[in-house]
Amino acid sequence: MDSIRILGGKPLHGEIVIGGAKNAALPLMAAALLTDRPLTLTNMPELADIGTMANLLRQHGVRIDRSDFGAGSNIAEAGPTGRTMTLTADKITSITAPYDLVRRMRASVLVLGPLVARMGEAKVSLPGGCAIGTRPVDLHLKALEALGAKIEVQSGYIHATAPGGLKGANIVFPKVTVGGTENLLMAATLAKGDTVLENAAREPEISNLAECLNAMGADIGGIGTGTLRIKGVSSLRAARVPVIADRIETGTYAIAAAITRGKVKLTGTRYDLLDSVFAAMRQAGVIVEPGDNSVTVSAETGELVGVDVMTEPYPGFPTDMQAQWMALMATASGASMITETIFENRFMHVPELTRFGAEVNVHGSSAIVRGRKKLSGAPVMATDLRASVSLILAGLAAEGETLVNRVYHLDRGYERLEEKLGACGAHVERITGG
Ligand code: EPZ
Repeated sequence: MDSIRILGGKPLHGEIVIGGAKNAALPLMAAALLTDRPLTLTNMPELADIGTMANLLRQHGVRIDRSDFGAGSNIAEAGPTGRTMTLTADKITSITAPYDLVRRMRASVLVLGPLVARMGEAKVSLPGGCAIGTRPVDLHLKALEALGAKIEVQSGYIHATAPGGLKGANIVFPKVTVGGTENLLMAATLAKGDTVLENAAREPEISNLAECLNAMGADIGGIGTGTLRIKGVSSLRAARVPVIADRIETGTYAIAAAITRGKVKLTGTRYDLLDSVFAAMRQAGVIVEPGDNSVTVSAETGELVGVDVMTEPYPGFPTDMQAQWMALMATASGASMITETIFENRFMHVPELTRFGAEVNVHGSSAIVRGRKKLSGAPVMATDLRASVSLILAGLAAEGETLVNRVYHLDRGYERLEEKLGACGAHVERITGG
């Protein structure tokens, strides 16, 4: 298993190109199942999870062609990553998403809505719990039932059937769910009649999906709000759609600049995708300057102060930035309180962060962080994607050597991390195998 070795304590200086968002690309890829016409996605990231989704879609019969023009190429429409992917689902050869693929990535459940909408039947392995919580899919299933699907869970598989097709309905999600909103949005585009999704998630990745579906011929209104109105259509057409910038990768590198007290320009991204995090950074004393498709972050003056945050659905502070924020707060003066409201078990990074000398006390769903002038490098173990990267951030700030073990989680969501940080002066190397 690979590990990452960091020699910390060096301020980062330079420029980092942000990739396309993993959490936008995954549902966009699943949307290709809704039509027999090709869907081309531009600004695609190259990540382990994208490979897993591609394998899953291939076994449903989807043909996948990729082009790589190189990051920063002058093929403007390929987007900042220079990578495109065309998915063609002219023939669905299997309606089953097998356990072996679904267990690797929970987002696999996003094939459920499109398959049942187009084929009238889908069998998808029930995703298990994961390191950050139990993460049920009951809200996806209840909402699909409201559209007329019959759902049975048998032998670990969700079996959804709607032989006569889905029918539009009014659905109020009792809790905001990103994946649930995406699954239902896709299913409702091919349902007969009108669907209203209330208390829908408003994440930018949902808007990216809704705009993609509209480009494919769907009729979705209320994009960007908590109420999505979908008028069902009988079929969808070909489209070419850009994947939005990864706001969590943006925030992670913004914190890399701040935690090392350096200055980094993040390009291929947008300030407005991450208002809540940038506002908290400014409050802490970080300078954040929005530019044209870029954001520059600097903390060269040194002293930062503790700022409390609470994770919330968008536009609130994202749970996917909570671990990174904790690492930054471990280097700020004074105390800060971090409250996690989305997942029940998302403080797995705390014991590892304390190995750097950070002082963190967890009380239920809140953690109190008392910052230190200096963290010191340590061997640590990664538990999930965002926890892993918080350890990398702490390692960048800490004096001496840090070894982050079990970094395969990182490859699920951060492309060429060592290269991007290395180009800004960080001493980061991957140690393969072992
Ligand atoms: C998405 O997960 C993201 N994943 C997560 O990013 C992110 O942390 C999360 O949204 C919240 O922003 C992708 O987009 C692929 P939810 P998702 O449904 O859709 C509960 C990362 O690091 N819930 O919004 O699975 C659930 O347990 C990942 O990139 C139910 O109870 O999240 C959680 O407590 C990790 N029943 C809350 O709702 C359901 O049927 C929000 O989950 C569905 C969800």
